[in-house]
Amino acid sequence: MVRIILLWIMSSLLCLAANAQVIHNGIPWFDEQGNIINAHGACIVEDGGRYWLFGEYKSDESNAFPGFGCYSSADLVNWRFERIVLPVQKDGILGPDRVGERVKVMKCPKTGEYVMLMHADDLGYNDPYIGIATSPTINGDYTLHGPILFDGKPLRHWDMGTFQDTDGKGYLLIHHGPIYRLSDDYRSIEAKVAHVEGMGESPAMFKKNGLYYLLTSNLTSWERNDNYYFTASSIEGPWKKQGYFCPEGTLTWNSQSTFVLPLRRDNDTIPMYMGDRWSYPHQASAATYVWLPMKAEGEKLAIPEYWDAWNAAKAEKKLSIQGREQVHNWISDKKGDCLEREFDGGRIAVVGKTDGNGGYATISISYANGKVLDKLFVDFYSKIPDEGLRFVSKNYPKGKYRLRIEVTGTQSAWYNKKKTIRYGSHGYLVNVTKTIEMEADV
Ligand code: DGJ
Repeated sequence: MVRIILLWIMSSLLCLAANAQVIHNGIPWFDEQGNIINAHGACIVEDGGRYWLFGEYKSDESNAFPGFGCYSSADLVNWRFERIVLPVQKDGILGPDRVGERVKVMKCPKTGEYVMLMHADDLGYNDPYIGIATSPTINGDYTLHGPILFDGKPLRHWDMGTFQDTDGKGYLLIHHGPIYRLSDDYRSIEAKVAHVEGMGESPAMFKKNGLYYLLTSNLTSWERNDNYYFTASSIEGPWKKQGYFCPEGTLTWNSQSTFVLPLRRDNDTIPMYMGDRWSYPHQASAATYVWLPMKAEGEKLAIPEYWDAWNAAKAEKKLSIQGREQVHNWISDKKGDCLEREFDGGRIAVVGKTDGNGGYATISISYANGKVLDKLFVDFYSKIPDEGLRFVSKNYPKGKYRLRIEVTGTQSAWYNKKKTIRYGSHGYLVNVTKTIEMEADV
């Protein structure tokens, strides 16, 4: 009997350990404290045996810079919130009511210092700078030094990225083409080394087998588009425009590039694409992440298939959520309408359809007595129709819980910077096909 119990405990633990490695795309993630992981326009630094995720710590209320956050993880799945490493400043380029985006951090090999670069702007995006901050420790307080200079003048650009080459040199990538090499201490710009004709926004670079790949998006504000890439055998170029890396029309699996992390797996390095699925204006809770392994073979770069769940340790597709399903096929755009379901603890998943008429729902989990444990916005808008996972709850201890999905009568919609183009949803629909009570902690 004791042996059987021991075997059962061991197999459950193994099952938990294996499942704990799963990355779910396009849904809110929770950190070790149960708070939403808020790291947009992000990058990851591998340092001291851990992954360090830096990103925009967005709010649900306004686009004003609320700080850059840092999380750490041993496995890319379970994240610990470290701290806000760069808060709103008293004044200057990241003072109150400014914009701070696309934070990128690199460890300078010469000085050992951590160097952070970012896009800083005013709320109308009319006062762009590339800012620089440094810290002696990766998760410490970063000191903002102001705009980074080139030829004594600040760079007045917006979307940016960084790339660290295998020889230790650091590069700053800028929207629409310029690539700058940083000085040995990464604190200033040494030279402009290339200008990639045909580039768009959100630059991200990696190198595999001696070939450089540069990813970029078209200019469509927070809306997703078919991102594309360039290749070159030297950073200085010539850069060759290659085309889309996701199937055309998927809008980069409904995301915008921000960074590529080289994953070291089984004597191979697999580039992991990191993208943002924006959700303006409720970015803190409803904007999500799309992270997927890329196939890079010579000049061919592709993410041929969307995996809503994959194993980060093996870089392999996982079967999506399994468990006790309840089919709802519930559609409403009437503010206040709600769908409720009870469950007995564990995790509950929501599957639904999104399209150009989707709106925001709030999803809440409460005890049977009505006390709300968690509540957040989930976006049912996507320019291209899709059906898939919209939410997976935290793991709750055994008990009586109620899941409530409520139509808010609000939508993800916004204008471009010049206020001439309207983007986003034209409706308020919330479309839930099914909910799943999950058997294991996947
Ligand atoms: C697109 C950029 O890539 C984002 O970082 C952000 O600046 C939005 N534009 C704002 O519209």
